[in-house]
Amino acid sequence: MEKSFRFSNSHADYQARDAKSVFGWRYSPRIVFKAGKGTKLIDLDGNEYFDLTSGMMCMVLGHSHPELAEVIREMAGTMVHESSWYSNPWAIEFAERLGEVTPGDLKVVNFAVTGSEANEIAMRMALAATGKYDIVSMIRGLHGGSLAVEALTSVGGNRRKSLGPLMFPAKANALLPPYCYRCPINRTYPECDIACLKSSEEMLEFVTSQNIAAIMVETIPVPGGMIVPPKEWLPRLADLAKRWGALLILDECQLAPARTGKMWAMEHYGVTPDIVTFGKGLSAGLAICGTITTPEIAERTRGNAGLPWAGTYSSDPMPAAVALKQLDIVLRDKLDERAERLGQFAEARLKKLADKYECIGEVRGKGLYRMLDVVKDRTSKVPDPVMAERIRYNAALEGIVAIAVKHYFRFAPPLIITEAEIEDVVGRLDAAIQRAVDGFPRDVDVRESSSLSIGDRPIAAE
Ligand SMILES: Cc1ncc(COP(=O)(O)O)c(C=O)c1O
Repeated sequence: MEKSFRFSNSHADYQARDAKSVFGWRYSPRIVFKAGKGTKLIDLDGNEYFDLTSGMMCMVLGHSHPELAEVIREMAGTMVHESSWYSNPWAIEFAERLGEVTPGDLKVVNFAVTGSEANEIAMRMALAATGKYDIVSMIRGLHGGSLAVEALTSVGGNRRKSLGPLMFPAKANALLPPYCYRCPINRTYPECDIACLKSSEEMLEFVTSQNIAAIMVETIPVPGGMIVPPKEWLPRLADLAKRWGALLILDECQLAPARTGKMWAMEHYGVTPDIVTFGKGLSAGLAICGTITTPEIAERTRGNAGLPWAGTYSSDPMPAAVALKQLDIVLRDKLDERAERLGQFAEARLKKLADKYECIGEVRGKGLYRMLDVVKDRTSKVPDPVMAERIRYNAALEGIVAIAVKHYFRFAPPLIITEAEIEDVVGRLDAAIQRAVDGFPRDVDVRESSSLSIGDRPIAAE
């Protein structure tokens, strides 16, 4: 018999109320969760699901981690919030610890609440430090949804539709992505000698005002397709930034801490930028993000471009205490090494799925952040977002909560996942992909799941 979702009356009632009262993106069906424990989420009917995206890639230690729960309880009775024009020991220690684990002279933290805000602080820093205006980003990069960083984001869907002149004007999505699986200039690595970067340099001259304050990229662009750059790409990009007198800003919101097998993904490439931004994973899910730069840049920009930036919740004590504790646990338990080891374990198993199913074009990623590129067939590599959504839907039926955006299916479990759990998850994915390949569910609408999805085009089931 065909598997299907069955929700209790009270669960169905919440689903209907959610649809009516909350204006948000939702996957179908609207599963409503009441708890999270370790690597799992529990829905209103008590069904358990593996959380394959660690919330929004934030829950590095999984849900309801006992040591973090203890800090939250303690801080709830000590101090939750204070004026951001005063300080507290937890924010100071979190900043110091970040300075200790970040390469080079990146030692000073300007706290923010979201990754978007952190990236906008980085932009302010670049303008203030250089006196220039252009911020150059990469096609397929994503840096957030507030309007200035939306202008640096180019991942398609309806994100920028109708925003018109609200887009920050002095910018250029001028860099071609080092997307070897679908090379933007139809070359092959390594014979290409990173030709995409050479073409990009010409673009910098042609499409900017040549007043480049900064080049901003994700170290490994994730939402745009888990584009793991060849090893030469980032060092050469850093040289290029230097030649143009521009700062290099790396956005590691998706990547730090430890997810890729190193504390920071930049460590895979031996590049230290002028500014790095963090969010998600380093926040421990409590919305403490930020921008790390050198003492020299911080001092050079002080009092200019609204810097240092402080919003209502910047450096609040409770999130700082929790994020600090989480970072200490990541270091104590060497979760970078664990992500590297288990990432290889997961990759080997996911690649077996790719061997078995023609619709998995490639498995890309590093450490415990992998992505299945879902295609019509391996030869044409034509993206198949309908199949990706079918897989996601069937994964939920198999007890896995996952994100599929466009034709990219993400594998980003909490870093505490075990080998046995990975085996279990991959077995369930196997069943989910098989049912998707068999054409179930027939009707799929990918438009409601995310602003990154397909845009206005209705996707018909074949
Ligand atoms: C690479 C990257 N940078 C920045 C952001 C924005 O973070 P936030 O949603 O916290 O503003 C995101 C969000 O997905 C992201 O993926």
